[in-house]
Amino acid sequence: NAAEKGGYEHFMLKEMYEQPKAIADTFSPRIKDGRIEIEELGMDDEAIRAVKKIVIVACGSAYHTGMTSKYIFEGMARIPVEVDLASEFRYRDPILTDGTLVIVISQSGETADSLAALREAKEKGCKVLGIVNVVGSSIAREADNVMYTWAGPEIAVATTKAYSCQLIALYLLAMKFAHVRGTISEGELAEMIEDLKKLPAQVEMLLNNKDRIQKFANRYLAAKSIFFIGRGIDYAISMEGSLKLKEVSYIHSEAYAAGELKHGTISLIEDGTLVTALLTQENLYKKMISNIEEVKTRGAFVMAVTNEGHSDVEKAADYVVYIPKTNKYFTNSLAIIPLQLFGYYVAVGRGCDVDKPRNLAKSVTVE
Ligand code: G6P
Repeated sequence: NAAEKGGYEHFMLKEMYEQPKAIADTFSPRIKDGRIEIEELGMDDEAIRAVKKIVIVACGSAYHTGMTSKYIFEGMARIPVEVDLASEFRYRDPILTDGTLVIVISQSGETADSLAALREAKEKGCKVLGIVNVVGSSIAREADNVMYTWAGPEIAVATTKAYSCQLIALYLLAMKFAHVRGTISEGELAEMIEDLKKLPAQVEMLLNNKDRIQKFANRYLAAKSIFFIGRGIDYAISMEGSLKLKEVSYIHSEAYAAGELKHGTISLIEDGTLVTALLTQENLYKKMISNIEEVKTRGAFVMAVTNEGHSDVEKAADYVVYIPKTNKYFTNSLAIIPLQLFGYYVAVGRGCDVDKPRNLAKSVTVE
């Protein structure tokens, strides 16, 4: 009912607005005296140094946070990471050698495939860490250790705040591992902690830009197909942006690694096709501008999401959304906000049942 929605039209919008607090609740208890402390990890420094590989298993949006964190664990902590869909992992007899840490990410803690993957990993002798939102859920109980995301109850089928909290938990883990293993300096850690603390206010600011995004979304209510492109972390953001849009609006959309465009997707670009381009990574910036030009030549209309200060993107793209400055590893937390709003407003404009899209369940407890 309306009271439960706290004055918002839908749970999805309410939960998007709860993100600043949820994010802060997830990092605050784990930052002490300028250090990352994750007691529930159950690993001392020696155990953290002994990790040779991380295998992340999840479904849906949780899989996307796993994809984002692959770039972060590898870039920041120099640990090789494999990310697998739980439904694939459980049937491929995965090779889990000594020193492999398995991380299972799940909002509900009840997803059947993720739970089965957890059991498979334990059977093979691996230590399993759960990143879970629902306290006392099956995955939380069966994992060797559990790190909770403090998003609070999430009602809308399309996840927003739980997704954002999973990212934060993964940032904290990567920072902890990187610091212990000596791949980041004290100074870099201190800077990252400062940037983490700024995220809630920055997310709030982006949410307050909702009218502009709504206006833009209203132009695409009849779109047949929408594309999301990015490289590196921005590719991972593209996947989540695309899923948000299609699951609630029923408009077909696809996320593509921008460098792969010319190997297929570009043939689908027609006059007026909307392409959302993500450019938050400085080292990939020029490459992304060329990808924007490629699709523009084929008639695409390009919405770009980029860092503040890059006003030159306006020369290449048709419509630009800026995100405030943050650490290069944390941009997903900001860039996802306009994409969540976009998906939401396209669905609202089309009269879709935003909180309960057809055929989808909040928690998939059957195979
Ligand atoms: C369902 C939900 C998705 C979610 C996925 C994994 O498909 O609709 O939003 O990402 O399950 O759920 P979990 O609870 O394991 O994170």
